Amino acid sequence: MASSLPFSCLLYLWLSMLSLAIVSTNAAPPRKPIDVPFSKNYVPTWAYDHIKYFNGGNEISLVLDKSTGTGFQSKGSYLFGHFSMQIKMVPGDSAGTVTAYYLSSQNSEHDEIDFEFLGNRSGQPYILQTNVFTGGKGDREQRIYLWFDPTKDYHSYSILWNMYQIAYVHSFPLTLIYALL
Ligand SMILES: *[C@@H]1O[C@H](CO)[C@@H](O)[C@H](O)[C@H]1NC(C)=O
Repeated sequence: MASSLPFSCLLYLWLSMLSLAIVSTNAAPPRKPIDVPFSKNYVPTWAYDHIKYFNGGNEISLVLDKSTGTGFQSKGSYLFGHFSMQIKMVPGDSAGTVTAYYLSSQNSEHDEIDFEFLGNRSGQPYILQTNVFTGGKGDREQRIYLWFDPTKDYHSYSILWNMYQIAYVHSFPLTLIYALL
């Protein structure tokens, strides 16, 4: 299915960041995550009808079909943080698709921290590709061969971003995929 539409099936999960945000210097203990409706923190960016809502709007499913995928972005902008998304990949034939979850600046000097899941033929493994752009320069792609099947269950994929490092983390069991220092 997807092989006939190699580029029209991108799913974007877009969290934006802004370099002018103000960071508190107090070392407050991290707040416990709580479930909130999707629409409190995110807005769909395209193909709104391809987002399905469950569980009182606390859970969503992004639909990929022959015509399009879909995407959303955060309402807020962030400088530093721990961003975590629970994602289950499309099973079956996902060749030619990329499911992307990334932080991106919105100014002309492009900064980006990416998780990209490269789809594959039925039964063939997804590859996780990461990349980091700073000041418009990328070329830091890394390909990770996953040690689990990302289509079977929800897994948490996190980006830990602070003054000292950018770390890609797969949680539960907690595994540091790698860190750029
Ligand atoms: C798909 O699966 C094949 C066979 O295991 C592998 O060589 C390839 O790297 C995989 N990923 C992509 C994006 O094709």
